Amino acid sequence: MSLLSPARGYALWAPTYSETAVSALESSVVGALGVPLRGRRVLDVGCGIARRLADARDAGASVALGVDLAPAMLARASGDALLAAADVRALPIADGAFDVVWCRLVLGYVDDLSAAYAELARACAPGGVVLVTDFHPTAAAAGHRRTFRDDAGELHELENHVHQADAHPEAAARVGLSLRQRRDGVVSDTVRDFYARAGRLDAYGDQIGLPLVLAMLFVRDD
Ligand SMILES: C[S@@+](CC[C@H](N)C(=O)[O-])C[C@H]1O[C@@H](n2cnc3c(N)ncnc32)[C@H](O)[C@@H]1O
Repeated sequence: MSLLSPARGYALWAPTYSETAVSALESSVVGALGVPLRGRRVLDVGCGIARRLADARDAGASVALGVDLAPAMLARASGDALLAAADVRALPIADGAFDVVWCRLVLGYVDDLSAAYAELARACAPGGVVLVTDFHPTAAAAGHRRTFRDDAGELHELENHVHQADAHPEAAARVGLSLRQRRDGVVSDTVRDFYARAGRLDAYGDQIGLPLVLAMLFVRDD
């Protein structure tokens, strides 16, 4: 199995990229955070194929813009979302231009959390919110890896930087973001079908209760 950088990995994964147990849990736990989107300007950093931006539009966001490192992922976006290729550590966004800034399942691909949080905070208007999710450090410690199969069926692993749960609010606080909520997305009935389709119900039984996703909601200080 090859170990790939995020740029190379997502270029390869893009043609077959679809919902996984991790992303489905992530979507569920983000929904539970209950962030209002109606009339808000939403920026999705690391938006991938822009599937969550479509949800933002459906929920009444006034503006929905996505950026991602991998042009191949952006090329798979459907609908009329505004999209641009960019790195979370250097966003082509004016200061305070968005009310809601998402960065979902991205920061594990970045070693320097400070640089990423500085840009997320800068793009967010005072009083706005920044929502971050990450691959859970407990899952990484239990030996879980970020893997995918390409369209030829070959298995690859993506480089992942494990950030301990406290590292996020610490980096966020340094740039004026205060933690308001934290939730874990744990293996449960929500994702049983993903294991069943992969013929891995034995693993499902072993992993029930294991946190796969860390979700945090920050407010930008005025
Ligand atoms: C697991 S996918 C999640 C996509 C999307 N957030 C979602 O939940 O559907 C991770 C995405 O992060 C992007 N990414 C990785 N490193 C990045 C970086 N430094 N800056 C911006 N995007 C990055 C990848 O290209 C990929 O599309």
